[in-house]
This record gives sequence, structure tokens and C-alpha cells, in this order.
Amino acid sequence: MKNIILLGAPGAGKGTQAALIHEEFDIPHISTGDILRRNIKEGTPLGVKAKSFIDAGELVPDEVVIGLVEQRLQEEDCKNGYILDGFPRTIPQAESLDKVARIDIALNIDVPFDVIMERMSGRRMCACGETYHVSTLGGATTCKKCGGELYIREDDKPETVANRLKVYEAQTQPLIDYYRKQGKLKDVNAVGAIDEIFENVKKALQ
Ligand code: AP5
Repeated sequence: MKNIILLGAPGAGKGTQAALIHEEFDIPHISTGDILRRNIKEGTPLGVKAKSFIDAGELVPDEVVIGLVEQRLQEEDCKNGYILDGFPRTIPQAESLDKVARIDIALNIDVPFDVIMERMSGRRMCACGETYHVSTLGGATTCKKCGGELYIREDDKPETVANRLKVYEAQTQPLIDYYRKQGKLKDVNAVGAIDEIFENVKKALQ
């Protein structure tokens, strides 16, 4: 299998598609956002450092996330491929990654702005890691998998979302050209139902 990067704006649906790729191809889904949130929950030194950046919609400093990912990629389960979701997010992160890994493909999960706003404002999370959207919950407020109470991510609040999108445009969008120039970029039309988009993802991965 391949070493895959998922690019796309906050709330575009990267995590949702990464979970499906993981299920279908049995390669690890490495989300820097999930790793950082787990550290915040556990109160680790990394979590304490990351929290103020995440809550403000800013990026965690490059040196923190680069080390974290480089370490993760050395684990045994990455030998047969992996999906990087939320990394790289800056040009220096991409350049560091190029020094330690061979990326095969960068999927650009492409969604217009109004759809992004709709997806992020409706997102509900469970502490077990499951993600839902209010439109599919039918009024439920607990997790279908573990029964946990659903909550709104701190950085999904409207004032933070605006900053995350600004940061995305300034620091992450340039990666689209970075991978296009390397001949690794594939755009995925990510408007529509989750399973329809996954068909587009699979075609792009062929
Ligand atoms: P991170 O967790 O990576 O957040 P993000 O990139 O902003 O992406 P999201 O998790 O918000 O969205 P997503 O694209 O995964 O969408 P999802 O599938 O959930 O990062 C959070 C923070 O951590 C950053 O702001 C930064 O501070 C820090 N950080 C992380 N990585 C870093 C790095 N490399 N460098 C520095 N800092 C870093 O979908 C969204 C919603 O839409 C869900 O409710 C979902 O159910 C729904 N949905 C998805 N697809 C569909 C569909 N087709 N139809 C209807 N609903 C859908």
C-alpha cells in the first residue's frame, strides 16, 4: 500500500475519509490533531504546550509536531503504508517529512467554503474518538459506539473557526502547489455523501 497525505481545509472531511481508508486498506491513520488532543486530555507536557495554540486556532510549533510524526513513522505498523491526516501543515513540515519518508500521493480533499462551515458547525465528538455530524444523529446526544456524551470541540466555536481558516490559507494551502510540483497531488471532489466521496478517494488512490 501507499504512503498517503490528506490535505484539505479544517472541517473538509479528512478525518472521516482517513478512517475509511484505514478500514479498507488496513494501514494506520495518523492524525496529528487526534494525537495532540489525546495529550491534552491526559495532561502530558506535550498536551500542556499544545493546548493554548489549538484553542486559539493557531498551529502548534513545527518542531513539536515534526518530532512527534517522525517518531510515529518509525513504528512497525507503518512499514506497509500509512495515512497522514493533518500533517504536514506548513512548508517546513513538508520539507522535514521529505527527509525521512517517501510520500507516494497527496490527496487534496476539496470542498467549497460554505460546505466547510456547515460541516464544522455541525460536528459532534465523543471522547472515544468517534466523530459525528448533527445531520445524521437524529437528535441523539450520545455516541453510537460507546454511549459517551457527545460534545463540541473547543476549536469548532465560531470565533476560532474563522482563525483556523485564515491560518489554513496562509500556511497550509501552499502545500497544494508543493505536492503538485512533485507530481504527487490528486484533487478529490469532496462534496456529497461520505460514501460517494470515498469512491472518489479510491479512484484517486488507484
Ligand atoms: P486537526 O484535528 O487536524 O483539525 P483540522 O485539520 O482543522 O481538521 P478537522 O479535524 O477540523 O476536520 P477534518 O477535515 O478531519 O473533518 P472531519 O472528517 O472531522 O487539528 C486541530 C488543531 O491541532 C489545529 O488547528 C492545530 O492547532 C493543531 N495541529 C494539528 N496538526 C498540526 C500540525 N501538523 N502542525 C501544527 N499544528 C497542528 O469532518 C468534519 C465534520 O463534517 C464532521 O462532523 C463529519 O462527520 C462531517 N462530514 C465529513 N464528511 C461529510 C460529508 N461528506 N457529508 C456530511 N458531513 C460530513
